[in-house]
Amino acid sequence: MKKLLYQFDTDPLPSVFDNVVGYDGGADHICSYGGLHARNVGPLVEGAIFTRAPKDKKNTAIFIGGGSVPQGEALLDAVRGKFFAKFRVSVMFDCNGSNTTAAAAVACLAHGRSLAGKRAVVLAGSGPVGQRAAVLLAREGVQISITGRKLAIVEAARDSIRARFGVEVRAIEAPTNRERAAAIEGAQIVLATGAAGITLLEAAQWQSSTALQLLADANASPPAGVEGIGMSDRGAASHGKLLFGPLGFGALKLAVHRACIARLFEQNDLVLDANEIYDVAKAMVV
Ligand SMILES: NC(=O)c1ccc[n+]([C@@H]2O[C@H](COP(=O)([O-])OP(=O)(O)OC[C@H]3O[C@@H](n4cnc5c(N)ncnc54)[C@H](OP(=O)(O)O)[C@@H]3O)[C@@H](O)[C@H]2O)c1
Repeated sequence: MKKLLYQFDTDPLPSVFDNVVGYDGGADHICSYGGLHARNVGPLVEGAIFTRAPKDKKNTAIFIGGGSVPQGEALLDAVRGKFFAKFRVSVMFDCNGSNTTAAAAVACLAHGRSLAGKRAVVLAGSGPVGQRAAVLLAREGVQISITGRKLAIVEAARDSIRARFGVEVRAIEAPTNRERAAAIEGAQIVLATGAAGITLLEAAQWQSSTALQLLADANASPPAGVEGIGMSDRGAASHGKLLFGPLGFGALKLAVHRACIARLFEQNDLVLDANEIYDVAKAMVV
C-alpha cells in the first residue's frame, strides 16, 4: 500500500521545500494543494479519511504548511474538525518551518544544560519561528520576552501564543538595534528569529553583556541576524557566550522534519504540532 501525503498549503503555490522533505521523509506520493483554507478543505479531508480500511489509514497523512501561522492554524482546526471516531489520519503542522526550526534551535540550546529559571529574549519573535520558539523555551522553564517593531503586532503575537498554548510571554516594542540591545539587558538567552537578511543586533551590542550565556540566530540569508555569529556555529565560544548559527541547527531541523513525516505513517491519529515536534527534536539532538 502506497504512503500518500496530502500537502495542504494556505499559500497559492504550495511549498517546494515541504514537498521535497515529504518525499525524503518516506512518502511514496505527494499531492500538493495551494490556496486552502478552512472553508474549502472539507472534501479533501473526507477523501483522505473515508478511503482506506481502518488498519490501512496510517498510510494516508496530511501536512499543513504556508506562510501564515494563523491561517495554517485555522486550516489545522478545520482538518481536525472533520475527523470523528476512527475516521482520521495523522497530521503535521509546520507553516514556514515554524515548528521544526524552533524545535531544532531550542533543542540545541537546551542540550546538555538546564535552561530553567533563565530569562530569554526572542528577537523578532512575532514571526512564525519566533512564536513557536517562545512556546518551546517556556516549556524548558524559561521566562520569555518577544520583540517586534510595532507594539500592536508583537502584542497580537503574545495573545496568539497565550490563546493557543497557554504560555505567557512579555511583548516588547523594539524597532531599532539600539532598542533591541536594551531589550536583551539581563537576559541569559537570546534567540534571533528575524526575517531573512535582516540584522537585529550588532556584535558590540551582545559581546559586552555580562548576563548573556547562549545566543542563537535562525536567519540563514546574509547578512546575519546577529552580527558575529557564524552560520555553522554550534556551541562555539565567543566573549564568554556560546553561539549557535542557522546552519548549526539547520541539519537537525531537516532531520526532525523528515523524522516527523516518517512518524505520520506509523499510526493514523497523530497531531504533530510544536510540543510533539519538540519531543522528536529532543530525542534526536546530539
Ligand atoms: N535555520 C533554519 O534551518 C531555518 C529554517 C526556516 C527558517 N529560517 C529562518 O528563520 C527566520 C524566521 O523565520 P520566520 O518565518 O519566522 O520569519 P519572518 O516571518 O519572515 O520574519 C520574522 C519577523 O521578522 C521581523 N521583521 C521583518 N522585517 C524586518 C525588518 N526590516 N527589521 C526588523 N525586523 C523585521 C517581523 O517582525 P515585526 O514586524 O513584528 O518587527 C517578523 O515577524 C528567517 O530568517 C528564516 O529565513 C531558518
